[in-house]
Order: sequence, then structure tokens, then C-alpha cells
Amino acid sequence: MTAGTADGDRREPDGTERGWRAAAQEALYGPEGFYRRPEGPAGHFRTSVHASALFAGAVARLLCRVDEALGRPPVLDFVDMAAGRGELVTGVLAALPEETAARTRAYAVELADRPGGLDPRVEWRAEPPERVTGLLFANEWLDNVPVEVAETDSTGTARRVLVRADGTERLGEPVGGDEAAWLARWWPLGGEEGLRAEIGLDRDRAWASAVAAVERGVAVVVDYGHLAEARPPFGTLTGFRDGRETLPVPDGSCDITAHVAVDACAAAPGLPGARLLTQREALRALGVTGARPPLALASTDPAAYVRALAGAGEAAELTAEGGLGDFWWVVQVVGMAEEFDVFGSVPDGLGDLPEGFGGLPEGFGGLPEGSGDLPEGSGSGER
Ligand SMILES: C[S@@+](CC[C@H](N)C(=O)[O-])C[C@H]1O[C@@H](n2cnc3c(N)ncnc32)[C@H](O)[C@@H]1O
Repeated sequence: MTAGTADGDRREPDGTERGWRAAAQEALYGPEGFYRRPEGPAGHFRTSVHASALFAGAVARLLCRVDEALGRPPVLDFVDMAAGRGELVTGVLAALPEETAARTRAYAVELADRPGGLDPRVEWRAEPPERVTGLLFANEWLDNVPVEVAETDSTGTARRVLVRADGTERLGEPVGGDEAAWLARWWPLGGEEGLRAEIGLDRDRAWASAVAAVERGVAVVVDYGHLAEARPPFGTLTGFRDGRETLPVPDGSCDITAHVAVDACAAAPGLPGARLLTQREALRALGVTGARPPLALASTDPAAYVRALAGAGEAAELTAEGGLGDFWWVVQVVGMAEEFDVFGSVPDGLGDLPEGFGGLPEGFGGLPEGSGDLPEGSGSGER
């Protein structure tokens, strides 16, 4: 074994040690990869899409706003980027008004195979279509785009972390070239030994390439992440298996994920200006508020009241502090008037949400203020 390779993609002579990017690429998307398995992502963790149909409803509302701004084109594209098993695109089609659904061309872009029983209106593909007019929406994609990991040695030099299939690591060669420039711009490491960063260059490129498919419309990526002023000093690389957080081991047995440097993605070369907002802000602007249903409903229609409470609880989960509500939405508007504010008061033809979807009674649902991350091993599976 040599003391580091010049290229994180190249295998060491014994074939077992690589940079994290190549190791995770094979572990997640290789022939035996984690994401090729039949159970799909929902078998291991819960995204906003699985948490509540309110999420797909909000995305449908967003699509309707984009549709209005585009002047209701004869064909309106909706691209569910990194679609998992197509749950979001299915929910969006179900939530659209009939007339809009009839004009909508729905795509699921995914590396895994098309699941059986998917709505035949959905075109399943491995790459985004060209020339999208409409909305491209990527929920929890970029955290699964593999990244190189850098760690500082005893002299303060940032070196590539090499990993074996069993998860053991050692430091490889110093990070150079574009990757070093990315670190300097977006995630400078101090001189202290043992600091770590995840190099988001490939994520920025992946996002820029997806946005490039949009000719006119809006592209949105939603993920957990961080901004330059608050990078985690030791990185965030994590594994998930069967609903539990685990050590990241690149052997295909678990998900491998790292929080996204969302400000870097938003500013990737070639992209139009971006708007960054939290999921809490975005969903509230799309009508998912978690506000309480009127108490009077409890006596006039108890069943409706209980249903409304359940909906309010789901809205609270999607917008929770310390949970899904802290996710970032990166929004890029392409080929439309720059002043178009998709989260402003744009008519969308959907009217108000059903009564009760606005409310949360005191003490019902939601995470307590400042509850922070889920405890390790909680098994809820929300990432
Ligand atoms: C965490 S799952 C999210 C699934 C779904 N969007 C959701 O929110 O439930 C990430 C998905 O991204 C897919 N993926 C990763 N890279 C991709 C790529 N380049 N093109 C298409 N799909 C990709 C994976 O196969 C996996 O299904």
C-alpha cells in the first residue's frame, strides 16, 4: 500500500481503499448498491414525502403557481428528481386540479428501477429530460451525491480521507486543484489537527446540471444542510440502516449521507440567482401552517375535528424546529421575470387548504422547542 494516491477514484493495489466519493458511489449505486434494493429509501428512513401527503400537496401548489406564471402552457412539466419510488410525483399528480393534471407531463428521475404499479402517466428515466418548462423538484437528493472527505493532519494540511469497505480510514494525499479551491472558498479548515470537511464540488455540479435542464420555470432542491458561517467542524458523514443512524460503512449495507453546503450549491457556476429559505418558511408560504382547527368543530363535527388534528400534527412535523422544518429550500427561477416570487401572493387556483389544515391545538403534536436532533437510535428513521 502506498502513502496516498494522486486520485481518490483510483483503487489502491489491494483494491480496498479509496476516497469516500468513489467508495460511497459504489456502495450506494453500484450493482449491489444500497439504493438498488427493492425496499427503497422508505425502508430505511422517512423523508418529508413519506411524513405527510401535505408535502406533495404543497409541491402541487407550487407547480400551480409556476404554471400561472408561465401563462398556463399546453404542456407543463413536473420533474421529481431523485424520485425514490416515485412517491412525490404520485402525490403531486393526485393533488393537482383536473385541468392542470391533464396538461402535466410527469417525470421521475431515478437511478433505481421503476417500481411496479406506478401511475402509467409517470415517465421513469435515469436523467432529467431536456428543456423542462415547469418545475424540477429534488427532495433529499444532494445529501446522497457522494463527496470526498478532507481531514487536517498534524501540520494542519487538508488531506483526502481514504476508506476501506469496512469503514476504517486513513489519510491520503493533500487535497489539491479544484477541490482545494472549493475548500478555500466554501469550507476553509483551520490549522488544528482532526478537523474535517465534506467537499461539495460534485454536488454543486450535479445541481447545476439538473437546473440546466430547465428552460423556463423553477428548480428547487430541498435538503438538510449548513451555511458558511456554521459549518460543522468535524463534518456530518453518517450512515442509516433500518430506521437508525449508524456509522457510515461503504459496503452497501447502509445509506451514506452528509449534510449539504447549500450556499455553495445555490451559487454554483452557471446558475441564476437563488433564494434560500427554510422548509418552515416555504411550506407556510404554500399554506401548510400547522395552525389550530377551530375548537367549535369539536362539538359540531367531532370526526372532522379529529381528522383536522391529525393534519395539523403532520403539518407541525413538516415545519418543526430541530426537525424537517429546518431543512433548506434552494429555489432557482429560470427564464422568467426575475421579480417573479413563487412564494409571494401568486394566484394558484387551488384556493384555501381544507378547514382544519391550518391548526394545532396547544400541546398537540410537534417537537418541543429546542428539542434538537432525534436521539441516536431513536428508530424513527427521520434523517
Ligand atoms: C434519500 S432518497 C430520496 C427519495 C425521494 N426524493 C424522497 O424524498 O423520498 C435519494 C434518492 O436519490 C436517488 N439518486 C441519487 N443520485 C441520483 C441521480 N444522479 N439521478 C437520479 N437519482 C439519484 C437515489 O437512488 C435515491 O432513491
